[in-house]
Amino acid sequence: MKIADIKYFGNEEHKIIMGDAVISLEEIEDYSIDLIFADPPYNIGKNFNGYKDKWSKDADYIEWCYKWLLLCIKKLKPNGTFYVMTSTQFMPFFDIYLRENIHILSRIVWYYDSSGVQAKKYFGSLYEPILFCVKDKDSYTFNAKDILIEAKTGAKRKLIDYRKNPPQVYNSEKLPGNVWEFPRVRYRMEEYENHPTQKPVTLLERIIKVSSNKGDLVLDLFSGTFTTSFVAKQLGRRSIGIELQEDYVKIGLRRLEIQNEYNGETLVKELRSFEEPLIEQESKLALF
Ligand SMILES: C[S@@+](CC[C@H](N)C(=O)[O-])C[C@H]1O[C@@H](n2cnc3c(N)ncnc32)[C@H](O)[C@@H]1O
Repeated sequence: MKIADIKYFGNEEHKIIMGDAVISLEEIEDYSIDLIFADPPYNIGKNFNGYKDKWSKDADYIEWCYKWLLLCIKKLKPNGTFYVMTSTQFMPFFDIYLRENIHILSRIVWYYDSSGVQAKKYFGSLYEPILFCVKDKDSYTFNAKDILIEAKTGAKRKLIDYRKNPPQVYNSEKLPGNVWEFPRVRYRMEEYENHPTQKPVTLLERIIKVSSNKGDLVLDLFSGTFTTSFVAKQLGRRSIGIELQEDYVKIGLRRLEIQNEYNGETLVKELRSFEEPLIEQESKLALF
Protein backbone atom coordinates (compact mmCIF):
# COMPACT_ATOMS: atom_id res chain seq x y z
CA MET A 1 0.00 0.00 0.00
CA LYS A 2 1.36 3.42 -0.95
CA ILE A 3 0.53 6.83 0.51
CA ALA A 4 -1.84 7.45 -2.38
CA ASP A 5 -3.97 4.59 -1.04
CA ILE A 6 -4.63 6.32 2.27
CA LYS A 7 -8.12 7.74 2.63
CA TYR A 8 -9.16 10.30 5.22
CA PHE A 9 -12.62 10.72 6.76
CA GLY A 10 -14.07 12.83 9.53
CA ASN A 11 -13.50 16.30 10.83
CA GLU A 12 -11.18 18.36 13.05
CA GLU A 13 -12.32 16.50 16.17
CA HIS A 14 -12.47 12.90 14.98
CA LYS A 15 -10.47 11.56 12.04
CA ILE A 16 -10.45 8.11 10.50
CA ILE A 17 -7.54 7.09 8.30
CA MET A 18 -8.08 4.05 6.11
CA GLY A 19 -4.63 2.67 5.38
CA ASP A 20 -1.60 0.82 6.63
CA ALA A 21 -0.56 1.81 10.15
CA VAL A 22 3.12 2.43 9.42
CA ILE A 23 2.48 4.49 6.28
CA SER A 24 -0.36 6.45 7.91
CA LEU A 25 1.66 7.12 11.07
CA GLU A 26 4.42 8.68 9.03
CA GLU A 27 1.89 11.23 7.78
CA ILE A 28 1.03 12.35 11.33
CA GLU A 29 2.90 15.31 12.80
CA ASP A 30 5.69 14.42 15.27
CA TYR A 31 5.10 15.24 18.97
CA SER A 32 1.39 15.90 18.35
CA ILE A 33 -0.43 13.11 20.22
CA ASP A 34 -1.34 13.04 23.93
CA LEU A 35 -2.29 9.38 24.24
CA ILE A 36 -1.72 6.36 21.99
CA PHE A 37 -3.44 3.00 22.36
CA ALA A 38 -2.03 0.23 20.15
CA ASP A 39 -3.81 -3.11 19.89
CA PRO A 40 -2.10 -4.76 16.89
CA PRO A 41 -2.68 -8.14 15.29
CA TYR A 42 -1.21 -10.62 17.79
CA ASN A 43 0.44 -13.00 15.27
CA ILE A 44 -1.63 -15.90 16.59
CA GLY A 45 -3.70 -16.69 13.51
CA LYS A 46 -6.95 -14.79 14.13
CA ASN A 47 -9.06 -14.19 11.05
CA PHE A 48 -9.63 -10.47 10.40
CA ASN A 49 -12.24 -10.55 7.69
CA GLY A 50 -10.27 -13.04 5.55
CA TYR A 51 -6.86 -11.57 6.41
CA LYS A 52 -4.91 -14.05 8.58
CA ASP A 53 -3.06 -12.61 11.55
CA LYS A 54 0.05 -14.82 11.16
CA TRP A 55 3.46 -13.85 9.85
CA SER A 56 5.53 -16.60 8.17
CA LYS A 57 8.35 -16.00 10.64
CA ASP A 58 8.03 -14.64 14.19
CA ALA A 59 11.11 -12.51 13.54
CA ASP A 60 9.24 -10.72 10.72
CA TYR A 61 6.33 -9.92 13.04
CA ILE A 62 8.68 -8.55 15.68
CA GLU A 63 10.61 -6.48 13.15
CA TRP A 64 7.34 -4.99 11.86
CA CYS A 65 6.23 -4.18 15.41
CA TYR A 66 9.50 -2.47 16.26
CA LYS A 67 8.89 -0.15 13.29
CA TRP A 68 5.50 1.14 14.48
CA LEU A 69 6.46 1.09 18.17
CA LEU A 70 9.26 3.54 17.44
CA LEU A 71 7.00 5.66 15.23
CA CYS A 72 4.42 5.86 18.04
CA ILE A 73 7.05 7.21 20.41
CA LYS A 74 8.02 9.82 17.81
CA LYS A 75 4.41 10.98 17.42
CA LEU A 76 3.79 11.35 21.18
CA LYS A 77 4.04 14.76 22.82
CA PRO A 78 6.94 15.04 25.33
CA ASN A 79 4.46 14.39 28.18
CA GLY A 80 2.45 11.79 26.25
CA THR A 81 1.38 8.28 27.25
CA PHE A 82 1.48 5.02 25.33
CA TYR A 83 -0.50 1.83 26.07
CA VAL A 84 0.36 -1.20 23.98
CA MET A 85 -1.01 -4.72 23.83
CA THR A 86 0.01 -7.93 22.12
CA SER A 87 -0.21 -11.64 22.82
CA THR A 88 1.46 -13.09 25.92
CA GLN A 89 3.93 -14.84 23.57
CA PHE A 90 5.24 -11.62 22.04
CA MET A 91 4.95 -9.14 24.91
CA PRO A 92 8.44 -9.98 26.24
CA PHE A 93 9.95 -8.73 22.95
CA PHE A 94 7.93 -5.48 23.20
CA ASP A 95 8.95 -5.04 26.81
CA ILE A 96 12.67 -5.44 26.21
CA TYR A 97 12.57 -3.17 23.15
CA LEU A 98 10.48 -0.45 24.78
CA ARG A 99 12.57 -0.24 27.94
CA GLU A 100 15.35 1.16 25.80
CA ASN A 101 13.12 3.81 24.25
CA ILE A 102 10.44 4.91 26.75
CA HIS A 103 9.59 4.50 30.45
CA ILE A 104 7.43 1.47 31.21
CA LEU A 105 5.57 2.35 34.42
CA SER A 106 3.18 -0.58 34.71
CA ARG A 107 2.80 -4.05 33.28
CA ILE A 108 -0.97 -4.52 33.32
CA VAL A 109 -2.83 -7.79 33.13
CA TRP A 110 -6.30 -7.55 31.61
CA TYR A 111 -8.00 -10.58 33.12
CA TYR A 112 -11.34 -12.05 32.09
CA ASP A 113 -13.24 -15.14 32.94
CA SER A 114 -14.26 -17.23 29.98
CA SER A 115 -16.30 -20.33 29.55
CA GLY A 116 -15.14 -20.42 25.92
CA VAL A 117 -11.41 -20.91 26.51
CA GLN A 118 -11.21 -24.52 27.59
CA ALA A 119 -7.72 -25.89 27.13
CA LYS A 120 -7.66 -29.56 28.10
CA LYS A 121 -3.96 -30.31 28.45
CA TYR A 122 -2.46 -26.98 29.42
CA PHE A 123 -3.58 -23.86 31.29
CA GLY A 124 -5.87 -21.83 29.04
CA SER A 125 -5.09 -18.17 28.55
CA LEU A 126 -7.39 -15.86 30.49
CA TYR A 127 -5.47 -12.63 30.30
CA GLU A 128 -3.90 -10.18 27.89
CA PRO A 129 -0.89 -8.06 28.80
CA ILE A 130 -0.81 -4.28 28.42
CA LEU A 131 2.24 -2.04 28.86
CA PHE A 132 1.67 1.44 30.26
CA CYS A 133 4.51 3.72 29.13
CA VAL A 134 5.25 7.42 29.41
CA LYS A 135 7.78 9.58 27.62
CA ASP A 136 8.68 11.65 30.67
CA LYS A 137 8.33 9.87 34.00
CA ASP A 138 8.29 13.21 35.85
CA SER A 139 5.53 14.80 33.75
CA TYR A 140 2.54 12.90 32.44
CA THR A 141 -1.25 12.94 32.82
CA PHE A 142 -2.61 10.60 35.50
CA ASN A 143 -6.13 11.45 36.66
CA ALA A 144 -6.23 8.95 39.52
CA LYS A 145 -9.45 10.36 41.00
CA ASP A 146 -11.34 9.62 37.76
CA ILE A 147 -10.82 5.85 37.88
CA LEU A 148 -11.21 4.97 41.55
CA ILE A 149 -12.78 1.61 42.33
CA GLU A 150 -14.40 0.21 45.43
CA ALA A 151 -12.02 -0.79 48.24
CA LYS A 152 -13.76 -3.75 49.84
CA THR A 153 -12.16 -3.40 53.29
CA GLY A 154 -13.72 0.02 53.80
CA ALA A 155 -16.78 -0.11 51.56
CA LYS A 156 -18.09 -3.65 52.21
CA ARG A 157 -16.44 -4.94 55.37
CA LYS A 158 -16.52 -1.49 57.05
CA LEU A 159 -13.33 -2.32 58.95
CA ILE A 160 -11.78 0.25 61.25
CA ASP A 161 -8.04 0.98 61.26
CA TYR A 162 -7.16 1.09 64.96
CA ARG A 163 -3.53 1.97 64.21
CA LYS A 164 -4.75 5.50 63.47
CA ASN A 165 -5.38 7.93 66.30
CA PRO A 166 -8.32 8.42 66.48
CA PRO A 167 -9.27 5.10 64.74
CA GLN A 168 -10.60 5.60 61.21
CA VAL A 169 -12.75 3.62 58.81
CA TYR A 170 -10.65 2.31 55.90
CA ASN A 171 -11.02 4.14 52.57
CA SER A 172 -14.01 3.00 50.56
CA GLU A 173 -12.29 3.75 47.24
CA LYS A 174 -8.86 3.03 45.82
CA LEU A 175 -6.79 3.23 42.66
CA PRO A 176 -6.89 -0.05 40.73
CA GLY A 177 -3.73 -2.15 40.78
CA ASN A 178 -2.21 -3.69 37.68
CA VAL A 179 -4.69 -6.57 37.37
CA TRP A 180 -7.79 -5.30 35.62
CA GLU A 181 -10.90 -7.43 35.36
CA PHE A 182 -13.32 -6.53 32.58
CA PRO A 183 -15.52 -8.97 30.69
CA ARG A 184 -14.61 -9.48 27.03
CA VAL A 185 -17.11 -8.27 24.43
CA ARG A 186 -19.58 -11.09 23.86
CA TYR A 187 -22.12 -11.53 21.07
CA ARG A 188 -25.08 -10.60 23.25
CA MET A 189 -23.59 -7.40 24.59
CA GLU A 190 -25.03 -4.12 23.34
CA GLU A 191 -21.63 -2.83 22.21
CA TYR A 192 -20.84 -5.95 20.11
CA GLU A 193 -19.64 -5.38 16.54
CA ASN A 194 -18.68 -7.99 13.97
CA HIS A 195 -14.94 -8.21 14.72
CA PRO A 196 -12.93 -11.06 16.29
CA THR A 197 -10.97 -9.03 18.85
CA GLN A 198 -13.11 -6.02 19.78
CA LYS A 199 -11.94 -4.46 23.05
CA PRO A 200 -14.53 -3.51 25.68
CA VAL A 201 -15.61 0.08 26.22
CA THR A 202 -14.87 -0.32 29.96
CA LEU A 203 -11.18 -1.04 29.28
CA LEU A 204 -10.76 2.03 27.06
CA GLU A 205 -12.73 4.19 29.48
CA ARG A 206 -10.22 3.50 32.22
CA ILE A 207 -7.24 4.21 29.95
CA ILE A 208 -8.62 7.38 28.38
CA LYS A 209 -9.97 8.83 31.63
CA VAL A 210 -6.75 8.37 33.56
CA SER A 211 -4.23 9.22 30.83
CA SER A 212 -5.80 12.15 28.98
CA ASN A 213 -7.78 15.32 29.59
CA LYS A 214 -10.77 16.79 27.79
CA GLY A 215 -9.72 18.14 24.38
CA ASP A 216 -6.58 15.93 24.22
CA LEU A 217 -5.76 14.01 21.05
CA VAL A 218 -5.98 10.21 21.29
CA LEU A 219 -4.56 7.94 18.56
CA ASP A 220 -5.31 4.28 17.86
CA LEU A 221 -3.29 2.83 14.96
CA PHE A 222 -5.11 -0.51 14.80
CA SER A 223 -8.65 0.68 15.32
CA GLY A 224 -10.71 -2.41 14.43
CA THR A 225 -14.19 -1.44 15.58
CA PHE A 226 -12.96 2.00 16.68
CA THR A 227 -13.61 1.44 20.38
CA THR A 228 -10.85 3.91 21.27
CA SER A 229 -12.21 6.72 19.08
CA PHE A 230 -15.78 5.97 20.21
CA VAL A 231 -14.87 6.24 23.90
CA ALA A 232 -12.63 9.28 23.24
CA LYS A 233 -15.62 11.03 21.67
CA GLN A 234 -17.91 10.14 24.58
CA LEU A 235 -15.36 11.54 27.02
CA GLY A 236 -14.81 14.82 25.14
CA ARG A 237 -11.37 13.97 23.71
CA ARG A 238 -10.33 14.28 20.05
CA SER A 239 -9.32 11.17 18.13
CA ILE A 240 -7.44 9.73 15.17
CA GLY A 241 -8.17 6.11 14.27
CA ILE A 242 -6.19 4.16 11.65
CA GLU A 243 -7.49 0.90 10.17
CA LEU A 244 -6.51 -1.10 7.10
CA GLN A 245 -9.75 -2.91 6.38
CA GLU A 246 -12.60 -1.11 4.68
CA ASP A 247 -15.31 -3.14 6.44
CA TYR A 248 -13.96 -2.08 9.83
CA VAL A 249 -13.61 1.53 8.69
CA LYS A 250 -17.33 1.42 7.90
CA ILE A 251 -18.00 0.38 11.50
CA GLY A 252 -15.94 3.38 12.65
CA LEU A 253 -17.73 5.83 10.38
CA ARG A 254 -21.06 4.69 11.80
CA ARG A 255 -19.96 4.35 15.44
CA LEU A 256 -18.46 7.84 15.43
CA GLU A 257 -21.43 9.25 13.50
CA ILE A 258 -19.05 10.68 10.88
CA GLN A 259 -21.22 9.48 8.00
CA ASN A 260 -24.16 7.14 7.66
CA GLU A 261 -23.52 6.24 4.05
CA TYR A 262 -20.44 4.80 2.28
CA ASN A 263 -20.17 4.43 -1.50
CA GLY A 264 -23.94 4.30 -1.78
CA GLU A 265 -24.31 1.80 1.10
CA THR A 266 -26.33 2.86 4.15
CA LEU A 267 -24.26 2.13 7.25
CA VAL A 268 -26.41 0.35 9.81
CA LYS A 269 -25.46 -1.95 12.64
CA GLU A 270 -25.75 -5.60 11.63
CA LEU A 271 -28.63 -7.29 13.41
CA ARG A 272 -27.58 -10.18 15.64
CA SER A 273 -29.47 -13.44 15.15
CA PHE A 274 -31.65 -12.87 18.23
CA GLU A 275 -32.56 -9.36 17.05
CA GLU A 276 -33.87 -10.38 13.65
CA PRO A 277 -37.63 -10.02 13.39
CA LEU A 278 -39.38 -13.29 14.20
CA ILE A 279 -40.74 -13.59 10.70
CA GLU A 280 -37.19 -13.63 9.19
CA GLN A 281 -36.05 -16.23 11.72
CA GLU A 282 -39.01 -18.41 10.82
CA SER A 283 -38.34 -18.13 7.09
CA LYS A 284 -34.66 -19.07 7.65
CA LEU A 285 -35.75 -22.09 9.66
CA ALA A 286 -38.09 -23.10 6.86
CA LEU A 287 -35.04 -23.44 4.55
CA PHE A 288 -33.70 -26.33 6.61
C1 LIG B 1 -6.56 -6.50 17.52
S1 LIG B 1 -7.47 -5.67 16.31
C2 LIG B 1 -7.93 -4.16 17.05
C3 LIG B 1 -9.27 -4.20 17.74
C4 LIG B 1 -9.68 -2.87 18.34
N1 LIG B 1 -8.87 -2.51 19.47
C5 LIG B 1 -11.14 -2.88 18.76
O1 LIG B 1 -11.48 -2.55 19.90
O2 LIG B 1 -11.98 -3.21 17.92
C6 LIG B 1 -6.25 -5.24 15.15
C7 LIG B 1 -6.75 -4.49 13.94
O3 LIG B 1 -5.63 -4.05 13.16
C8 LIG B 1 -5.98 -4.07 11.79
N2 LIG B 1 -4.72 -4.12 11.02
C9 LIG B 1 -3.95 -5.19 10.72
N3 LIG B 1 -2.85 -4.83 10.05
C10 LIG B 1 -2.91 -3.48 9.94
C11 LIG B 1 -2.04 -2.52 9.36
N4 LIG B 1 -0.90 -2.87 8.76
N5 LIG B 1 -2.42 -1.23 9.41
C12 LIG B 1 -3.59 -0.84 10.03
N6 LIG B 1 -4.44 -1.71 10.59
C13 LIG B 1 -4.10 -3.01 10.55
C14 LIG B 1 -6.85 -5.31 11.65
O4 LIG B 1 -7.69 -5.19 10.52
C15 LIG B 1 -7.63 -5.30 12.97
O5 LIG B 1 -8.88 -4.69 12.85
